[in-house]
Amino acid sequence: SSAKGKQREALRDPPSFAFAFDIDGVLLHVSKPIPGATETLRFLNEHNIPFILLTNGGGKLEADRVKDLSEKLGVPLATDNFVQSHTPFRELVDAGGPDGKGFRDKTILVTGSDYEKCRSIAESYGFQNVVTPADILAAHRSVFPFAVVADVESSAGDGDKLATRPLPKPLHNTTAAPATAAERAGLLKIDAMFVLNDPRDWALDIQVLADLLLSEQGYMGTYSSKNGNASLLNHGWQRDGQPTLYFSNADLLWAAAYHLPRFGQGAFQAALAGVWHRLTNGTAPLRRTVIGKPHADTYRFAERVLTAHRNDTLRRLGHLPEQAAESQCAAAAADSNSNPIAAVYMVGDNPESDIAGANGHVSDAGTQWLSALVRTGVWSEERDGHGVLTGVKKPTVVVPDVKAAVQWALQREG
Ligand code: G3P
Ligand code: MG
Repeated sequence: SSAKGKQREALRDPPSFAFAFDIDGVLLHVSKPIPGATETLRFLNEHNIPFILLTNGGGKLEADRVKDLSEKLGVPLATDNFVQSHTPFRELVDAGGPDGKGFRDKTILVTGSDYEKCRSIAESYGFQNVVTPADILAAHRSVFPFAVVADVESSAGDGDKLATRPLPKPLHNTTAAPATAAERAGLLKIDAMFVLNDPRDWALDIQVLADLLLSEQGYMGTYSSKNGNASLLNHGWQRDGQPTLYFSNADLLWAAAYHLPRFGQGAFQAALAGVWHRLTNGTAPLRRTVIGKPHADTYRFAERVLTAHRNDTLRRLGHLPEQAAESQCAAAAADSNSNPIAAVYMVGDNPESDIAGANGHVSDAGTQWLSALVRTGVWSEERDGHGVLTGVKKPTVVVPDVKAAVQWALQREG
């Protein structure tokens, strides 16, 4: 058959290019496959053309999300070519952070759409002490004076109570400020805060995150005496060892079921930054680290994962000598630059994230990233027009959908 013939061709001559696909608005619309998506992924699988799924979505374990996607799309998929917004946070277990050693044994706070799922994601990466805003609320109900959405919308099921765990250390009675270091020793200390996906309890989360951003060295219930006084040496906002704040996805908007785009995690970030602006009287921008598309860290991570995945494919086809599988392990993936990909075609629906990220990415391995903007997602010609597609947001090509994007790339590759 011609498919077999093509496969033999692919075997003889492995492609020097690969694809990166966004999920929401490119492969799926809410939970339905976008026409042509299934067919396109099947074609690439059959022809051993490597691809990565690179989404700003999150909130599930990678294995669970991939299983779910496989079922929805009707295509076998694996975690070794799959990156969610929070997947690169895996690397912060043993590296990075203020002391460069990561946060494995430290205490981190996580938030997102479902506190318990966020905890299990962080634990699956290797973080050992993971606290949620619900844990803090359970230990100290007065931290937040109102009812919380999560109480009625928890992973435990409809209307069940919010799942919590006892805090790693007893929380000090916050009605009296701790007077001494010895007293502070009894307080919960948070070293980093991660927004893993789109929070639901914005008010509770903003309260808890702001408390910690104002605290002394991340001790819950304290207030740093260095806050404000920027004129004094080593004083100022976020200058007292407060926890590092991480966001995984800057998307202000994304394509959901409603006919107009809906708020994404970026809207939550803007809300927290807005409150912070008021708290600091506009004197200090919120210090934070943001990953996810369009940020360079995410594209670097994705390129390493994609290169390792491609090397596994080449090995399977006998084009590279046998060696332990690389792609599961990000550390091993780091040295996979020896066999670089010539071109990666990023297919996305969001000029701000998918397209800007691909266009702005400078590959260490010399890989060229090109971008194809589809019309099936958040960008709309009628609503947004071509005027927004300028500078780094200007795609290499605008195409109707993912199938057309792949056809364009294959033609370009000859
Ligand atoms: O929350 C999901 C969203 O912000 C975007 O997902 O797959 O379009 O990057 P995706
Ligand atoms: Mg999208």
